[in-house]
Amino acid sequence: MKIQSMTDHTGAEVLGVDLARPVAPEVREALNRAFVKHSVLVIRDQALKPAEVLAGVELFGSVFLQHNTRFALPECPQIQYLSNQDKFPDGRPYIPGEGWHTDHSNDTRPPKATVLYAVTLPDRGGDTQYANMAAAYEALPAATQQRIANLMAIHVYQSSHSTRKLMALAEDARERVPNAVLHPVVRTHPERDRKSIYINPIRIEGIVGMDHKEALPLLDELLVHSTNERFQYRHKWRPGDLVLWDNRCLLHKANGDYDMDQMRYLYRVMLQGDVPRH
Ligand SMILES: [Fe+2]
Repeated sequence: MKIQSMTDHTGAEVLGVDLARPVAPEVREALNRAFVKHSVLVIRDQALKPAEVLAGVELFGSVFLQHNTRFALPECPQIQYLSNQDKFPDGRPYIPGEGWHTDHSNDTRPPKATVLYAVTLPDRGGDTQYANMAAAYEALPAATQQRIANLMAIHVYQSSHSTRKLMALAEDARERVPNAVLHPVVRTHPERDRKSIYINPIRIEGIVGMDHKEALPLLDELLVHSTNERFQYRHKWRPGDLVLWDNRCLLHKANGDYDMDQMRYLYRVMLQGDVPRH
């Protein structure tokens, strides 16, 4: 197995591993260490059936069940699919994941990681972008670090400030999904003791004890700062890529910049995480 960095802050490529076969304990440990160190792992050249994707993902933790059940694979419901062929009820295409976000932050224990496995890709475009929120935190002026140190944000399923509309929850999910949860705006990574900015434009409704007039510009300022190109890794998908990323210290976004007549279809699995802590 070979693991090589893709930028100086985020992303590593993993070669020489076949997740369809049993993985030795020392390889599993090395993969987990690399995941925590690089935040995005790109495991190349996989040819996996749904059950093999699941077994590969479980090397890194236990599966977190997605809130919206409408995208589950019938033959393997722990896996959801992402497809550009899905439409809103009014017929517009639904491009999941457009706009910077971190997955399911409206959960009390948001998923620590999300995994995508490329099944069918368009000829070009459809990259996934990542912003390293730990590097972004470290580059903040000390005064801003102090200003946000103890803030708590209110996360909901769909922020009323978000311009990106999500697909409505399936009926059975509405009761399971909390109305609102509080998470720190600065969280410490539980496995490496490093602080990150933890914001989510599609889910944050406000900041506790702060007027919207102050909170919304502050959140915007943090987002513009964090998503600067110098904190980014941009993943260009290749067939057979299995990509695992750390939601505790990254934002990510999809791009709907490709030919929509071409199919783009990926499997998605998330892994259980902890309660975010200051
Ligand atoms: Fe996402």
